[in-house]
Amino acid sequence: MSAPKRYTITSALPYTNGPIHIGHLAGVYVPADIYSRYLRITGNDVAFICGSDEHGAAIPMRAKKEGVSPQVIIDKYHAIIKKSFEDFGITFDNYSRTSAPIHHETASEFFKKLYEDGKFIEETSEQLYDAEADQFLADRFVTGTCPKCGNEEAYGDQCENCGSSLNATDLINPKSTISGAKPTLKQTKHWFLPLDQYEDFLREWVLVGHKKDWKTNVYGQIKSWVDDGLRARAVTRDLDWGIPVPVEGAEGKVLYVWFDAPIGYISSTKEWAAREGKDWEPYWKDKDTKLVHFIGKDNIVFHCIIFPSMLKAEGSYILPENVPANEFLNLEGNKLSTSKNWAVWLHEYLEDFPDKQDVLRYALTANAPETKDNDFTWKDFQDRNNNELVGNFGNFINRIVVLTNKYYDGVVPTPNEFSEVDLQTLTELKAYPSVISSSIERYRFREGSQELLNVSRLGNKYLADEEPWKLMKTDPERVKTIMYVGLQVAAALATLSEPFLPFTSQKLKNILAVTSSEVETQWNEVSTKEVLLPAGHTIGKGELLFSKIEDADIQKQLDKLEATKKANEVENKIVEPQKDTATFEDFTKMDLRVGTIIEAEKMPKAKKLLVLKVDTGINTRTIVSGIAEHFKPEDLIGKKVTVLVNLAPRKLRGVESEGMILMTETPAGKLVFLNPDEDQVNPGAVIS
Ligand code: MF3
Ligand code: ZN
Repeated sequence: MSAPKRYTITSALPYTNGPIHIGHLAGVYVPADIYSRYLRITGNDVAFICGSDEHGAAIPMRAKKEGVSPQVIIDKYHAIIKKSFEDFGITFDNYSRTSAPIHHETASEFFKKLYEDGKFIEETSEQLYDAEADQFLADRFVTGTCPKCGNEEAYGDQCENCGSSLNATDLINPKSTISGAKPTLKQTKHWFLPLDQYEDFLREWVLVGHKKDWKTNVYGQIKSWVDDGLRARAVTRDLDWGIPVPVEGAEGKVLYVWFDAPIGYISSTKEWAAREGKDWEPYWKDKDTKLVHFIGKDNIVFHCIIFPSMLKAEGSYILPENVPANEFLNLEGNKLSTSKNWAVWLHEYLEDFPDKQDVLRYALTANAPETKDNDFTWKDFQDRNNNELVGNFGNFINRIVVLTNKYYDGVVPTPNEFSEVDLQTLTELKAYPSVISSSIERYRFREGSQELLNVSRLGNKYLADEEPWKLMKTDPERVKTIMYVGLQVAAALATLSEPFLPFTSQKLKNILAVTSSEVETQWNEVSTKEVLLPAGHTIGKGELLFSKIEDADIQKQLDKLEATKKANEVENKIVEPQKDTATFEDFTKMDLRVGTIIEAEKMPKAKKLLVLKVDTGINTRTIVSGIAEHFKPEDLIGKKVTVLVNLAPRKLRGVESEGMILMTETPAGKLVFLNPDEDQVNPGAVIS
């Protein structure tokens, strides 16, 4: 564990164009929260900063879709997102928003400083333009083929397939996402940050300076961009939603969202400092402050190339110490997607599992996409809960608490002489703070979460080997020692679980009655203090820390996803084009009647065919129909259907079929009848 320091920890500002889901939590906010909590409880000075990202093209686009103003959208999702973070125990010191006046001011000042210092290139060039919508097309307003990897759905600023950062004019076959039109070119003036001039700086700072301590996935991406050659990048846009460009001759232009958003970290820090009566500047300008950005992999270029170049250009800021970006989390085998509703939304999760915030935090950490993309499955979630949290952690605490209350009325017993095993267990326990610290400090939260579980495993093994419940009759003095040792492990768990399982940690501290500072064990004290829970201390009543998740609860979630899949299929279903015109005479040739099915049986040796007897009003006739895979014969008797009665008869498998029953198909591919739903129509009624 290192000496106390000042930390500025940021986590990506979420776009307020939708609620947040498990992918956001797993990739950014849970690891950032574990890290921040850990640093705070080990005595560091921490500013954990976030806020809503409320500019950019995504917001007006969503607003248009919902038929409301952008302001309505950002207010709605800002509130939902902020609440989700609070509900999941994400301990931001400040959660701001980029629509806040302090941010508009800070971002404008930043731009002006760079402008006045001559850090921008001002250039009029031809940009993609949608004449129909009267709008320039950049970023999310245009898609096309990525010149690097061939992905046909790359955006104007970035290809999500290969991670390349692009300029809109790089796209092959660009298409406006507003009108679908092929863009034309139109002249417009913008300000560019000449990234090529920062190449040497970036090489020196990251590629040499952080070669050893940054994650290989992050380092690799940066290296490939720098090696590819950096180009000037426009930091302004022709848009009416955003922060106005604060210089003359820039009417109708706003700052590029990726210029203003990262400055949001600074303005959020300012807002926090003002509220707390602190000075914000050391958190951004003191060389001894460690700045760490938690982000997902699609944000690497912005945090490792563009923002550092902006900070460098400004001149008075520190640079990030690390950017531990995560890969992506998938959900049941498919990419998480806000627009396709393929997600587990945090606010919906809490409706179904109201007291299980820690279970999700744990499942997402234990399976975090730290080095590669990972898949979240409900089965894994259930297993982690039932086997690890209930079966291991919860089981240990439950046994120790129940027995202490039963044997000693909740009073920690005075131990007798320690055996070899006791001493070994206590020694092993003392090693955990530094083991877990080391994982957290190296951003290996997944590994840290497993080490935490090893602490309760240690306790469980100890109890299982020593069997106090068996010795209680024969050697009660020995049981005192065993229970004492077990209680020390429980106290250590209450402390060490805090970064990972904050709700559980609090609950456990209540159970052990260690919430007052004299008896609460600090992180380092788990290794340094002789006694964590002293003899004579009275613990509280037992309470289950975790509860089993049943198959039915999981099935409900799987059904929900299945319904989403179906709904997406419906939305994507291509409607068949209209056929050639039919004359009225063509139509009247068709003799359509109401009929009633009076018999139905399977056609022998034919999987798909049923042989039906249908009362058409004219007569009762045989019709062979290819619906055997969709209906049971017995369910069809008495059904009213629509029949084309004058279709030329034809033989199917030797049976003559005289007519056709009209059917249609659901989006999921199930056949259904067009059945006249009216009791009073009789077989033979003409349909016209
Ligand atoms: N809103 C962006 C996203 O969701 C992240 C912005 S991070 C910041 O991808 F640095 F710009 F704030
Ligand atoms: Zn690409």
